[in-house]
Amino acid sequence: MRYLPLAEIREGMLLARNIYGNDGRVLLVKGAKLTKTYLQKLKEMNYTHLYVGEKEEDLEFKGPISDQTYSEAIAAVREVLLRAAKDQNLGLKTVLDVVDFMVDEVVEEDVLFNIIDLKNHNNYTYLHSVNVSIISTIMGKVLGLNRNKLKELAAGALLHDIGKVFIENTILEKTEDLSYQEYEKMMFHSKYGFDLLREIPELSLLSAHVAYQHHEREDGSGYPRALNADEIHLYAKITMVADSYDAMTSGRSYRRVLWSHEAIEELISDSPKKYDPKVVTALTQSVALYPVGSVVLLNNLEVAIVNDVSTKRIRIQLLTGEKKGEIIELFADSLIKIERRLS
Ligand SMILES: [Fe+2]
Repeated sequence: MRYLPLAEIREGMLLARNIYGNDGRVLLVKGAKLTKTYLQKLKEMNYTHLYVGEKEEDLEFKGPISDQTYSEAIAAVREVLLRAAKDQNLGLKTVLDVVDFMVDEVVEEDVLFNIIDLKNHNNYTYLHSVNVSIISTIMGKVLGLNRNKLKELAAGALLHDIGKVFIENTILEKTEDLSYQEYEKMMFHSKYGFDLLREIPELSLLSAHVAYQHHEREDGSGYPRALNADEIHLYAKITMVADSYDAMTSGRSYRRVLWSHEAIEELISDSPKKYDPKVVTALTQSVALYPVGSVVLLNNLEVAIVNDVSTKRIRIQLLTGEKKGEIIELFADSLIKIERRLS
């Protein structure tokens, strides 16, 4: 499986990950043969890269959670955000059911957040919410939280930005820096989210606090209450790191998309000022340094593509040398090591 720029993708290649439409539903399913029309359409939708394979076997890899749970989570979060925007009863049952599945899958399997996500402008909010929730859950597991706590964390992380439905679109969609007045309005999304979620009896108050506290920072420089390190709940500390990581690696911000290892370096350098160091350490154990599809340089100077990543091993396929095409598994003690990512 390759993660390729659109320009390098040829007709007839197979799509290796579902593409989600503006409504959060699957628009193009994994395994679909890419036609000229599809490729044109995806280009119009501002996709720049896709996960593709040449044959069926290329499509086999394990993401952090099953495709089905992933799709259901996207649909559930979309429905809740639309209801919130229309001032309707939130009806969190679907969300809480999805959270159960997500947490079970993360707890029971050897899971690492190992993908580069295929977001575009329109489905960003939903995919970002789901990713933040998955990454937070894996981090919570690394930090030793039990299943019930992971569910509180996952639900809070999934809904952390729900208060944004009350912020004007002109502010949310602005790509330049916000003016002070706009920033002040934007800051209210934390409080709006908290006020909405705290009223829901099925939801733990701690999950509501994730929405309230996810923009606080360790040194008191965050908002809305400028809390200090020991006043911020662990769930919020986890969610803010997952939120920053996913935003940095998926290019919604105005700067260049960072690679996984670059985002991690930046988060490490921002701790302990902004982020709790033990939480950032948990992130480094929760996300793949070289996600599936990364092209990497090995210490024997050969080039390979990352095929699958779990907590214990990385599976790569050689792209150069005498053994080109061969698949090998790298463990912590393997002689062959990855030097750096090339693309
Ligand atoms: Fe936020």
